[in-house]
Parts: sequence; C-alpha cells; structure tokens
Amino acid sequence: MMVQDKRVLVTGGGRGIGRGIVDAFVEGGARVAIADIAGAEQAAKEIGADAVGVTCDVSSSESVANALSVVGEALGGLDIVVNNAGVEAFGPLHELSEDAFDKVVSVNLRGTWLVYKHAVPLMQGGGAIVNIASLAGIVGFPLLGAYAAAKAGVVRMTEVMAIELRDLGVRANAICPGFIDTPMIRRAFDDFEAATGQPLAEIITARQGRLGTPQEVAALALFLGSDAAAFVNGTAITVDGGMNVNRI
Ligand SMILES: NC(=O)c1ccc[n+]([C@@H]2O[C@H](COP(=O)([O-])OP(=O)(O)OC[C@H]3O[C@@H](n4cnc5c(N)ncnc54)[C@H](O)[C@@H]3O)[C@@H](O)[C@H]2O)c1
Repeated sequence: MMVQDKRVLVTGGGRGIGRGIVDAFVEGGARVAIADIAGAEQAAKEIGADAVGVTCDVSSSESVANALSVVGEALGGLDIVVNNAGVEAFGPLHELSEDAFDKVVSVNLRGTWLVYKHAVPLMQGGGAIVNIASLAGIVGFPLLGAYAAAKAGVVRMTEVMAIELRDLGVRANAICPGFIDTPMIRRAFDDFEAATGQPLAEIITARQGRLGTPQEVAALALFLGSDAAAFVNGTAITVDGGMNVNRI
C-alpha cells in the first residue's frame, strides 16, 4: 500500500479502531507513533521495533504540544496523521449535561484540530491527514446528539484542511464508520438498551447486516494515508456495510 518507512501518528491508537490502524500501518512497513490518554506505551511495547508511545490528552493543548514534540523528535517529522481519538456521550440531547457535551466536543472536534495544528509543521515533505469521523457525522443518530454534531464538524473541517493544504502536498480525508466492534460500541449496547428498552444488536443486524471490524476501518485508513490515494482529497467515505443507503 506504499507506506513503507512513512512516519505515522495515530491518536487513540491504544485500543479499538486506532489499534487496528496502528497494526495495519506497522504491517505495511511504516514507523508508527501512538498518542493516547491510556495504554500508548503498552501498545508501543507490544508492537516493538521502533514504535513510539506517548501519553496524550488530545483535548489539552499543552498535552498535544508535548506529545507532538516527542513524536517529531523520535521520528524526525511526520508523513501521515490519523486523528482517531474519540469519546461518546449517550442520552437525549436536551438531557445531556454541559460537562458531557463539552467533553465530546473537546475530544472529538477540538482534539482533531489541536493535533492537526501541531502536526502540520512536522509535515514538511507533504503527506496525508486521515480523520476518523462517524456515520453520525453525516446523518443524525438519536441519543448521540453532541457526538453527531462534533463528528459533523470533523467532516467539514476535513474539507477545509484539504483545500488549505493542497499546495503543501498534504491531503486530508475523513472516514465515517458505522457500528464497529470495539469497547465504544460495547458501551453503547448497554446505554442504548437502558435508554430505549430495545437491544442495539438487533438494530445493527437489521440496518447494517453485522458489526464491522477495526481491521475493515484500518484498511481504508491505510489506503487514504498511502500514495495509492494521491488524488483522493477532501472526501468523507463511509465504512458501514451499506447502512447509510439502507432506506427500507
Ligand atoms: N466503534 C464504533 O462503532 C465507531 C463508529 C464510528 C466512529 N467511531 C470513531 O472511531 C474512533 C475510535 O473509536 P473506538 O470505537 O475504537 O473507541 P474506543 O473507546 O474503543 O477507543 C478510543 C481510543 O481513544 C482514546 N482516547 C479517548 N479519549 C482520549 C483523549 N482525550 N486523548 C487521547 N486519546 C483518547 C482511548 O483511550 C482509546 O484508546 C473514535 O473517534 C470514534 O468516535 C467509532
């Protein structure tokens, strides 16, 4: 996939989709750094080779500045940045607490922007930004209002990144996964059933066929990060088993 020796940063790469993305790039011969609020060093240790792990809260500018300085020094720059760190808050929008709303926007939207802001100066040779948004960033999902709003912001911001950085040789694209089998979706199973009395698993089977896997999202992240996607810029691609077009 043409990522051999590319220097890659994956936020939230300690587990779930992020870890799947880390593994895909490592398999492709890339040099990978993981920035995560938990488990970054452990994941880097498991990968071995010259993987870098740094603890980072993407919603804190100090934390991001520190992490990007560590990563920049360790890898000597960056070619690919995958903004994957994210959190959800579950519940009707009018009942969501201010803290929950602020956290979701801070991590998913502000965090994507902060990491991007500190990463761009390290991308002197051009490269690619891959932002993990969500299908909820394209269509509204009940009980995920703040999350859907933040992810819609990520999709729109990705378009601006693509336009603003094209002349520097940096592409930016977003991935919009449907329901993917990770700790995040396992939490949603419980929250959804508690709120609606309906098992989320049944809805997923009906609308999406089955749960997706982190590897299925990682395959697209690998493509978008690689030179194989050299003319793919400013788009948001769904990975959802067709859920977005399933109207019956
Ligand atoms: N699982 C799904 O069905 C699904 C669907 C659509 C989009 N997504 C998106 O995919 C991305 C990964 O989700 P996942 O399902 O693997 O979730 P997850 O909860 O399993 O993993 C999220 C990762 O992000 C890290 N993280 C959380 N807050 C952070 C912070 N402030 N700073 C740095 N790292 C932080 C966590 O420690 C964890 O490693 C998220 O952006 C999520 O919104 C997931």
